[in-house]
Amino acid sequence: MKRKNTGITGLDEMCEGGFPNKTVNLLRGPTGSAKTLFGLQYIQEGMNKGEKGLFLSVEESRENMKRAVESFSFDWRPYDRGDAYMVDYGEIRWGGEKDLEICFKDLQEFLDQFLKNDKICRLVIDSISAVSLYYSSPEKLRRNLFEFCRFLKQKNLVTLLITESEKDTVGVEGFVTDSVIDLGYENFNGEFRRTLKITKMRFTNHDPYKHPFLIMEDGIDLSVDEIIR
Ligand SMILES: Nc1ncnc2c1ncn2[C@@H]1O[C@H](COP(=O)(O)OP(=O)(O)O)[C@@H](O)[C@H]1O
Ligand SMILES: [Mg+2]
Repeated sequence: MKRKNTGITGLDEMCEGGFPNKTVNLLRGPTGSAKTLFGLQYIQEGMNKGEKGLFLSVEESRENMKRAVESFSFDWRPYDRGDAYMVDYGEIRWGGEKDLEICFKDLQEFLDQFLKNDKICRLVIDSISAVSLYYSSPEKLRRNLFEFCRFLKQKNLVTLLITESEKDTVGVEGFVTDSVIDLGYENFNGEFRRTLKITKMRFTNHDPYKHPFLIMEDGIDLSVDEIIR
């Protein structure tokens, strides 16, 4: 089976080599758990392999994303050269005005146009939290997200949808997507640790345990040998 490796040290070996092709994958975690970093690393790995990626930033401006890229010691220049795309969705849609409502149909319309310009096979949307809030009922959210996922798969993409998870979220998104990766940022006996767990991954065998990770110079570094219980 063809796959897109994540570029995250340790993660690819936990799931037989990465995300299976034509899948939509959900990355969940609280603030500061390194979701954005994960997304940037996934796009960066694509660049290393000559696979073009689009990082669609829904909440942060392009300028802030440049700062984030550089603070994680990634190279921004490929985004300026067009080896990968960094798009500020708010800027494109409303000229930078924030806090306007977005639904999945809007995103689909934008992507449908954008994907005509170039051959893109990796997509990150950071994040869909604001989009999910648009829907008044979990059923409606589920139905619309399902349609959106179907669209993404038809486009031959391997997608990473990022979402903020706090303790009281319902998590409808996880039912619809092909995989769910949960990031954590928790206090273990007075020590804060970042963790990663593959909660679900369709079409593949995967490691079920929660592992700690560190943020290193070259990104997320997962300790597959250590299990957190
Ligand atoms: N150069 C760096 N080295 C180590 N850690 C960093 C570096 N830059 C940012 N971080 C850490 O990464 C965290 C943010 O990661 P981010 O991917 O933005 O989280 P999220 O998107 O889940 O909110 C910050 O809280 C900070 O602690
Ligand atoms: Mg973020």
